[in-house]
Amino acid sequence: MLIERIERVLQASLQEAVHPETPPRLGQALVHAVMPGGARIRPQLAMAVSLACGDDDPALSEGYAAALELMHCASLVHDDLPCFDNAALRRGRPSVHQQFGERLAVLAGDALIVMAFRAVIRSKARQPHRLAEVLGFLESAVGPSMGIVAGQAWECEPRAQIQVYQRLKTGALFSAATMGGAACAGRDPRAWQVLGEALGEAYQVADDIRDVLMDAQQLGKPGQQDAALDRPSAARELGLEGAVVYFDELIGRAIEGIPVCRGAVRLRNLVLREAQRLLPFHDRPIGMAATDLPLTVS
Ligand code: IPE
Ligand code: IPE
Ligand code: MG
Ligand code: MG
Repeated sequence: MLIERIERVLQASLQEAVHPETPPRLGQALVHAVMPGGARIRPQLAMAVSLACGDDDPALSEGYAAALELMHCASLVHDDLPCFDNAALRRGRPSVHQQFGERLAVLAGDALIVMAFRAVIRSKARQPHRLAEVLGFLESAVGPSMGIVAGQAWECEPRAQIQVYQRLKTGALFSAATMGGAACAGRDPRAWQVLGEALGEAYQVADDIRDVLMDAQQLGKPGQQDAALDRPSAARELGLEGAVVYFDELIGRAIEGIPVCRGAVRLRNLVLREAQRLLPFHDRPIGMAATDLPLTVS
């Protein structure tokens, strides 16, 4: 199963980073930030695309998938800090700063970013130009102009365009998952851009809807935060109903964006299953029902 391969390489990254010389509380904070995980959607998406593209360098695609998840975990640790969203709960447990203090949370986030690059480099790509291309996707997805850092920084400006903000803070890592997943297998990444962009935007729109409708018990993190923190939100911008309609449109766009390939059915089911998981109270339009394939792609 894909998910088992992902957990194995995340464990390997943690084992490499946390050894007898690592300051013990930093080591504990790193493990806490990564294990147990959440949906692991970004690495699953990257590996599903790599598989659809032939996956001829599995060590590289696994390393890259782990790197995306490590970056994501880093972004969550920093996002929860008192100076950002001040969230005490994450994945149903105390957030990293709540458990280990702010200083270790800053350092753990920093370490996870470094570990992400290390996970790709450690995979010893069989073709050096692929390694360079894939590292470029990773760097740009978190960087200060096109990535998560830019997205979070728009919160520090007096005004932000919601679609730009969401594309950067969330969409960038999804586009990096699909495009980088293809690049790991030596294929043209551009064919995979629409899927990543549409699914990434859908994911953030769903997060905004869930923030309004669900409580901390259901979310595993605080609810009603966008209003409390005055954040741009699709639910606030479009209204709840409008946001749900837009979410469905984005899911439709993501499915249409899957290139014709051997893994297309598996990817379609991954997208539909995520749509159902994110907004379980909402019936998908006819023709968009997930089939009864296994819960995670194998
Ligand atoms: C949470 O991401 C932050 C967003 C970008 C919406 P996820 O919903 O993927 O979080 P985990 O990894 O499952 O906890
Ligand atoms: C999600 O930000 C994107 C990140 C960079 C973490 P949010 O603040 O909207 O995500 P949650 O709701 O805390 O997971
Ligand atoms: Mg935030
Ligand atoms: Mg937050």
